[in-house]
Amino acid sequence: MATEHYYTQAIWSATAGAKTYPSLSHDLEVDVAVIGGGITGITTAYNLAKAGKKVAVLEAKRVGMGTTGSSTGNLYAPTGQLHKVASKHNEETMKAVAFSRSGAVDFIEEVVNEFNIDCGFRRVPWYYFTTKEDSPHNKQIEKELLAAIEAGLPATGVAPAGFPYRVSRIANVAHQAQFNPLQYVQQLAAAIAGESCRIFEQTKVLDVEDGEPCVVHTSHGKVTAKAVIKATHSPIGRYVVHTEMEVHREYALAVRLKGDLPPDGIYWHMEEKQMYSVRPYSTEEGNFLLVLDASHKIGHVEQTEKSFKRVEEYLRAHFEVDEIAFTWAAQNYKPADGLPYIGTSFTEENVYMATGFAADGLTWGTLASIMIGDALFGRESPWASFYDPKRFTPAASAKRFLKENKDVVTHLVKDYLLRGDEKELDEIKPGEGKVVALEDGKVAAFRDEQGQLHVVSAVCTHMGCLVHWNNGEKSWDCPCHGSRFSVDGQVLEGPAIENLEEKGAGGQGPE
Ligand code: FES
Repeated sequence: MATEHYYTQAIWSATAGAKTYPSLSHDLEVDVAVIGGGITGITTAYNLAKAGKKVAVLEAKRVGMGTTGSSTGNLYAPTGQLHKVASKHNEETMKAVAFSRSGAVDFIEEVVNEFNIDCGFRRVPWYYFTTKEDSPHNKQIEKELLAAIEAGLPATGVAPAGFPYRVSRIANVAHQAQFNPLQYVQQLAAAIAGESCRIFEQTKVLDVEDGEPCVVHTSHGKVTAKAVIKATHSPIGRYVVHTEMEVHREYALAVRLKGDLPPDGIYWHMEEKQMYSVRPYSTEEGNFLLVLDASHKIGHVEQTEKSFKRVEEYLRAHFEVDEIAFTWAAQNYKPADGLPYIGTSFTEENVYMATGFAADGLTWGTLASIMIGDALFGRESPWASFYDPKRFTPAASAKRFLKENKDVVTHLVKDYLLRGDEKELDEIKPGEGKVVALEDGKVAAFRDEQGQLHVVSAVCTHMGCLVHWNNGEKSWDCPCHGSRFSVDGQVLEGPAIENLEEKGAGGQGPE
């Protein structure tokens, strides 16, 4: 029987290192301020500090515990979308994607070796496959295989002996990689922290001013820098790229199996309308199988526990599950034209962004750190024009851009027509959240298990859409550009910077 309630904690947090860093407590002057202590931010800091720059990393929570610590730890050059990049853009762009991403995976391996990072890094194959002869995705797999071969990747259309599924079509690309992403980032941070690379945790950035110098205002002081890198998954603040990305939430389970784990590998199984990403992971705590997906557009599904359940049902249909050990969710930003945005925006000279990584921030984030290092040292990156946030690709972007912005407008209009009254607050049951229209505006109300009502403004502080309830993770999620807030209105994920306005707390609800 499926589990009824899911507790959200990523498997990697069980292996989180104990090293912590202080909060910023005074004003500081550096060459580069890096906002965000995930793989993009820490690798950027490493590249810059190694080349002699004085760097400050400003992390709102703890190093690696955000998006990086919620990933699957898979590293791969193919994307499952190479053939689409070729048709949306051209073959040169498709080859640039494969080549630049291969370089990023190699770079991670070099860093692992340089610092002797104990993160289980290993080379494994990447498999993208279907299991039904009449699967509607068979053509897609065939096209991706051809694209991977065309791009020079070591690809074949044959499943190896001992493959855990009966395969219909497969793209099998050798020499990709897996690791524990949290151990990698935390150990890299520990290795580079020092005089030339200051790391600050629990330091929330409140505002960034572009200029010469730039000024980063935080909750505890300001940092003056020649350049600022927004390595925050989605760049905090307001940018055109926010209107060009579709934001998805995806769901992961790590389980113990009754039998053996499948052989090492990255398994991408196209089944019905979903793609399930499966990987084995062995540690001193035991052997786990990780499965991720059942993704949906953020804020479009309220009963997100059902998404966890779908992943569980997939697992039980294909493997003998002994125990569900960890469950968690992660967010991804799908760019309109299929390529990430790495570089400066239209309106800023010295502030860099790195976003639009879809479900693949580890490889793209590492590539971004290399490219931003090149830009700051005046070196010409061969990839800069492909991933420039200022690129203009109407043919490749139009469909998703129009759809995404129609959705945003629909939410702005439809959600604001919501009508209600104060009685609705009393009807909210423990553990439930609801957006209610009161006379002085829309509020997001959540009742905790003790019966206490937590009421905050339902108006997202980014650009004013109304937040929606997420029952699986007990959060308020914005359907427009993916900001997420706790039940008390604290920002969990940007691009919003400010918390939801508090509207007070209430008493007991229904018996
Ligand atoms: Fe942009 Fe909420 S995230 S309006």
